[in-house]
Amino acid sequence: MTITSEETPPGWLGTGTVPGLCRPDAPGTGIHAYLTEHRAELRALLAQRGALLLRGFDVGGVDGFDQTVRAFSGTPPLAYAERSSPRSTIKGQVYTSTDYPPAEEIFLHNENSYQAVWPRTLYFYCVEPPTTLGATPLADIRRVLAAIDPQVRAEFEARGWQVVRNFHTGFGVPWQEAFNTSDRDAVVAYCAERRIEAEWRPDGGLRTTAVRRAVHRHPVSGEEVWFNHATFFHTSTLPEEVGAGLRAIFDDEDLPTHTFYGDGGTIPDEVLDHLRGCYRGASVRFDWQRDDVLIVDNMLAAHAREPFTGPRRIAVAMAEPSDA
Ligand SMILES: [Fe+2]
Repeated sequence: MTITSEETPPGWLGTGTVPGLCRPDAPGTGIHAYLTEHRAELRALLAQRGALLLRGFDVGGVDGFDQTVRAFSGTPPLAYAERSSPRSTIKGQVYTSTDYPPAEEIFLHNENSYQAVWPRTLYFYCVEPPTTLGATPLADIRRVLAAIDPQVRAEFEARGWQVVRNFHTGFGVPWQEAFNTSDRDAVVAYCAERRIEAEWRPDGGLRTTAVRRAVHRHPVSGEEVWFNHATFFHTSTLPEEVGAGLRAIFDDEDLPTHTFYGDGGTIPDEVLDHLRGCYRGASVRFDWQRDDVLIVDNMLAAHAREPFTGPRRIAVAMAEPSDA
């Protein structure tokens, strides 16, 4: 087993603890066999480094990727519930990465950190690399937390944060798609179970409000991590013209997705600028190569998507449900 964790691979920008790079000793080594054989060491390394990039292995296509997830997580991949972004199913519980316009960046985030339950481990598989850019940048959220102004952190620790989502009729992702059902009672039951307040709107739409913690402890190491969607879901993190357009149409509480402090108070713009700077300062990136598999500890590393040109097909799977 070769784990090149300290050297900087070509195309890597910035410095950071993520990710560790694993290469096979012999060409053509099957990833499933490799992960099965070295599972304990690799899981320990993942809990330390936050992410592992497995490069140069024989993956065996989407079926092999699915088997890899099962072998490494010990459980089948999860279904993608409470959707906030469009994805297509490739096969079973293997999805495309977000179907989002190629010219737009997707900001750093920890998958489903706005939910009561989130996946502990994420898997990305490069089926078809992009022509330019299109990386999945990573940021160690221990580093993000360490970079945050202590006063800003204290404010979030005292008040928590809140995400408000408005599923308007005829605008954005409809609630039926987000919740995978058109049964209102099922949505209400789903929300109640997950500490989400659900409110039906006169236009047939839905508003949901969830209050969550901003700082969590990693379940293995006990380290504190900045694990939330307060920055990602704030309208000011959208491309400027998109955010301005939305704010011209909607009041803050009616925005499709927006964040506040846990008590409903406005998060000042300068705080959001500061938080975005902390994420970006911790960000590292690499260029995708065909058959790369990236395993991410979702409670140690945030991920993003660069804009890109060319085909870019990245399969995604999520596993190991976890909660606070
Ligand atoms: Fe994501």
